[in-house]
Amino acid sequence: MDLYEYQAKDLFGAHGIPVLPGHVVTTSAQAQAVAAELGGAVVIKAQVKTGGRGKAGGVQLARDPDEAQRKAAAILGMDIKGHTVHRVLVTPACDIAEEYYLSFVLDRTQRTFLAMASVQGGMEIEEVAATAPEALAKVPVDPRFGVDAAKAAEIVAAAAFPPQVAQAVADTTLKLWDVFAAEDATLVEVNPLVRDTQGSIIALDGKVTLDDNAAFRHPAHAALADPSGQDPLETAARARHLNYVKLANGQVGIIGNGAGLVMSTLDVVAAAGQAHGGMRPANFLDIGGGANAQVMADGLEIVLGDPDVLSVFVNVFGGITACDQVATGIVQALDMLGAAAAKPLVVRLDGNNVAEGRRILARAAHPLVTMVDTMDAAADKAAELAAVTFAKGA
Ligand SMILES: Nc1ncnc2c1ncn2[C@@H]1O[C@H](COP(=O)(O)OP(=O)(O)O)[C@@H](O)[C@H]1O
Ligand SMILES: [Mg+2]
Repeated sequence: MDLYEYQAKDLFGAHGIPVLPGHVVTTSAQAQAVAAELGGAVVIKAQVKTGGRGKAGGVQLARDPDEAQRKAAAILGMDIKGHTVHRVLVTPACDIAEEYYLSFVLDRTQRTFLAMASVQGGMEIEEVAATAPEALAKVPVDPRFGVDAAKAAEIVAAAAFPPQVAQAVADTTLKLWDVFAAEDATLVEVNPLVRDTQGSIIALDGKVTLDDNAAFRHPAHAALADPSGQDPLETAARARHLNYVKLANGQVGIIGNGAGLVMSTLDVVAAAGQAHGGMRPANFLDIGGGANAQVMADGLEIVLGDPDVLSVFVNVFGGITACDQVATGIVQALDMLGAAAAKPLVVRLDGNNVAEGRRILARAAHPLVTMVDTMDAAADKAAELAAVTFAKGA
C-alpha cells in the first residue's frame, strides 16, 4: 500500500524525523482558514499518490490566506498524471537553503535493502541517476544488522553531505531506517530532505510503501487505507482473501487456479477475442489450489458482480483438488448464487479425475454453463458469448 505524503510525514514525525506541521483539507475555504491559523506564507500541496506534483503545478506558494484560498481552488480538481486531486495539504512555507535526497528500498534483484542518498535532491531521483549517477550514493544494508550509527555515518559519507549537516542527516537516516524496519515498509523516501536557512534538517516530502504481506502485524495500518482510491471489486475480493485484479477495457471474466494458469488464460482470451470484436479479459482471479465450493462461489460472485463482464471463463486444472471436487464446487456455487448468476459461463476442466468432473457438470446441466474441453476452444467460446451480448448493446 502506498501512502499519501501527509500520511508518510505523519509516520516520519511519529518516529522523530523533523517535519513541518500541516492540515489536509478538501475545500479552498478550509485551506484559507488553515493558512490563517498557521500564519505567514504557506505551501498548498496536492495529495495524490504520484511524484512530480511540483512540476505539474500541484505544489504552490501562497503568501497570505486569500492567496491560499485561490491556490487551493486551482489545485483541487486538478489532474496529475491521471490522479484527480481531492485533497490538499496546507503547510508552512520553508526557507530552503539546500535540497537533499534520502531513501531506503527493498532491492529485490540484490536480495537486500538499499540506502540511497544524494546532495542533489528535489528533482526526480531517476533524473539524477540518469544524468549524474556519481551523485547518487547507493549503500546496501544487510537486513540482519540494519542501520546503526556507524552505518548511518557510512551512508552520509558516501553521499558526501556537507560537514555542517552530516550529524543531523545521520540522525535522520537512523530514524528513517526505524520507520522502514518498524513499519515493515518496502520503500521510505524523503525528497527533498532540506536544510533551511536556520540550519535545520527537515523532511519536506515523504513517500512510503508499506508491505501488505506484513499488514497482520500492524492493525493500525488499516486506518491508512483509502477506500475512495481503490476499486470496489478489488476491495470486496481482498475482504474474501481472493487474489483478484480488475483489468481495464475487458468483457470476459476469468477464474482459474494457479497464478501461472490464470496469466496464460488472460493471454489466450486476449488472442481469441481478436476474432470476436476485440473482446478482452476483464480481470485476473486466482482461486488457488484448494478451491472448494465457497471459494468458487466467492470468486464467481466477484466476477459476475463486475458490470463490465459479459461472460465468464472458468479454467481449472485439477491437481491436489481434483476435477470432481471443483465441478461439485461450481455446481454448489451456482446454487448458492441463484439468480445472481446471470451471465454465461464457459468451463474448461482438465487434470486429475477429469472424467468424473465433466460428468458432474453434465448431470447438473445448468443452463448458463457450457463445457469445452480445451483451453483454446474454451477461450474462443467465452469471447464469442461476450461478443454476442456486446453486440446486443449491453
Ligand atoms: N513546505 C514547503 N516549503 C517550501 N517549498 C516546498 C515545500 N514543500 C515542497 N516545496 C518545494 O516544492 C518541490 C516539490 O515538492 P514535493 O513535496 O517534493 O512534491 P513532488 O516530489 O511531488 O514534486 C520541492 O522540491 C520543494 O522545492
Ligand atoms: Mg518530492
